[in-house]
Amino acid sequence: MTIQKRLFLTSAALAVLTLASPVMAQSDTFKIGLILPMTGPQATTGRQIEAAAKLYMAQNGDTVAGKKIQLIVKDDTSTPDVTKRLAQDLVVNEKVNVLAGFGITPSALAVAPIATQSKTPQVVMAAATSSITQASPYIVRTSFTLPQASVALADWAPKNGIKKVVTLVSDYGPGIDAEKFFKERLTFNGGQVTEALRVPLRNPDFAPFLQKVRDLKPDALFVFVPSGAGTAVMKQFLERGMDKAGIKLIGTGDVTDDDLLNDMGDGALGVVTSHHYSAAHPSAANKKFVEAFKKANNNLRPNFMAVGGYDGMRVIYEALKASKGQGGGDGLLAAMKGQIFESPRGPMFIDAQTRDVVQDIYLRKVERKDGQLYNVEFDVIKDVKDPGKAR
Ligand code: PHB
Repeated sequence: MTIQKRLFLTSAALAVLTLASPVMAQSDTFKIGLILPMTGPQATTGRQIEAAAKLYMAQNGDTVAGKKIQLIVKDDTSTPDVTKRLAQDLVVNEKVNVLAGFGITPSALAVAPIATQSKTPQVVMAAATSSITQASPYIVRTSFTLPQASVALADWAPKNGIKKVVTLVSDYGPGIDAEKFFKERLTFNGGQVTEALRVPLRNPDFAPFLQKVRDLKPDALFVFVPSGAGTAVMKQFLERGMDKAGIKLIGTGDVTDDDLLNDMGDGALGVVTSHHYSAAHPSAANKKFVEAFKKANNNLRPNFMAVGGYDGMRVIYEALKASKGQGGGDGLLAAMKGQIFESPRGPMFIDAQTRDVVQDIYLRKVERKDGQLYNVEFDVIKDVKDPGKAR
């Protein structure tokens, strides 16, 4: 063959490829736009969810119903305007099939109108304010809600000598949910919230608030801070000798987050929290998950954010399988509703009416196990629906 002829053939082949590839990419690729805080104060959430999503893909393959799964990870730095811009770009230019991630409530809410307008399922893997699922009919949640976690603790506390409580929460959606639902249930149970304190989400200084709590001398301090902020609360709580003054620290599991817990030191021992996931959850499925996650991530312990990401990927994969890639966003969404399966956290399902997660909530106490600090589960409330949806 002459060089000219060979060149001609090559460029002809290239032309065919260039013509064909956008079409092929459309139909053969299934794109998941994963928007996470990879930097900034919620960076641990981003790191955990990205690692979990990649683990799920490594374990389950990257081809589903004949489509190649492509994960596109974007860093929104926990800035809702950035989340929104990234989501718009992913929908319009990348033509993603699913939007997923969302480290904090304001980011999840900023994207809801885009999900609705473009009919793109939005899988919320982290954010946990009750009302999020009502912001778009295209939202499905695989994390948890603050009312779910808080009510269980308000049932446990008065039975365990805790009657007077001061609450301390981050001053935004999930914190306000936690404060409200904990207080209502504790009051119903004959206890009392003597003061409700709110700290700013950004760069909180807990010192003046904790001083106030010390002066008020309640039986316990109930805390909600988002994943990543627990260490600062614990440190200042201990530095002020609150525990020695007879004030117990209780909270939702966000404060004794598995990502940070082991570095909090013995001062964290005995802290009781309620939550949907502990890395110490004693099931075969969880042991397998924790081992595989650590192996793939330089011994990093998965936290509840990782589980939200892992299960979110499962919901997407199974929806794609069930709908065989047909029906677009609406077909996928329909196949997400009602999914029921065993997560590393325990049994869970996606309520078909609310699109929110229904799951077991555990009471846990920080203990040393095999030389490391863990949230050890000692009681369980089965199949908890989000109490925020009942009103
Ligand atoms: C939220 O912003 O909804 C959020 C973030 C971190 C948590 C819980 C809730 O640990």
